[in-house]
Amino acid sequence: MWISFHSYKGGTGKTNISGNLACYLASKGYKVGLVDTDFSGPGIHALFSLKTKKTLVDYLQDRAALEDIVYKRGERELYIIPSYATEEDIVTFSKDPAEAKEKLQALLRDFQSLHNPDHIIFDCSPGLNRSSLLIMGITQISIVVCTLDKQDIRGTYVVSGVARRLKSRPRILFNKLPKNKYEASKETLEELSRKMGLEPIGVILYDEAMAGAWSRKIMVHAYPSSEYSKQIVQLWERINQPIGPP
Ligand SMILES: Nc1ncnc2c1ncn2[C@@H]1O[C@H](COP(=O)(O)OP(=O)(O)OP(=O)(O)O)[C@@H](O)[C@H]1O
Ligand SMILES: [Mg+2]
Repeated sequence: MWISFHSYKGGTGKTNISGNLACYLASKGYKVGLVDTDFSGPGIHALFSLKTKKTLVDYLQDRAALEDIVYKRGERELYIIPSYATEEDIVTFSKDPAEAKEKLQALLRDFQSLHNPDHIIFDCSPGLNRSSLLIMGITQISIVVCTLDKQDIRGTYVVSGVARRLKSRPRILFNKLPKNKYEASKETLEELSRKMGLEPIGVILYDEAMAGAWSRKIMVHAYPSSEYSKQIVQLWERINQPIGPP
């Protein structure tokens, strides 16, 4: 399955959710690809402390081949394609987005046939941008990660409207919800999701251990019994459920 994480505002938790979900699936014996398509603010290389020589950006700029940009992690079958963009790269990207799109699609085809992963997880850029919408259009499950911040909720309405026009059906995941507000806000969250036209895929509560990790630890490895890690497992169980008709 191809799964992508999106958001309107930055910092909603996409990179940590993508990385933890990928590690969880790899620990369960799946072959997993993890692709950082957040070109303007990549984070997967930092989360995994990768010493990257070449990245997806080099591939898209014809400076690297597929095998140069895939980093196998640990004993398990986790294959990471990180990004790292300089200011100059970003300017060049936006000059020819159609070409970048074609190359990205070719890369995914090659990656799929070379490594044959069971799942590929995409960590996308926040905001409404071409790369995020492109990925949303090619994944089986796209998930917009939203917090309770008013700016974020308003922006998520915009994302859902654009997604609908592009015939995508993203789901919504609320993250960083305070534990003591969860029960009281259940109905509000359901109503919000309904108004946005996004089917909810769950909630991840604010977790102190996660906040204190500062993206320096993979929670499902470092703290497998933390609330956060348990919620990653639950998230996977919901992703893996068949979705009903629209
Ligand atoms: N459930 C949570 N509880 C507490 N802290 C969290 C939670 N989820 C994420 N965080 C913290 O929020 C910060 C931002 O997370 P992350 O980098 O994953 O977000 P992002 O959406 O990828 O950001 P960006 O849009 O800038 O790429 C991190 O410091 C992370 O530890
Ligand atoms: Mg990120």
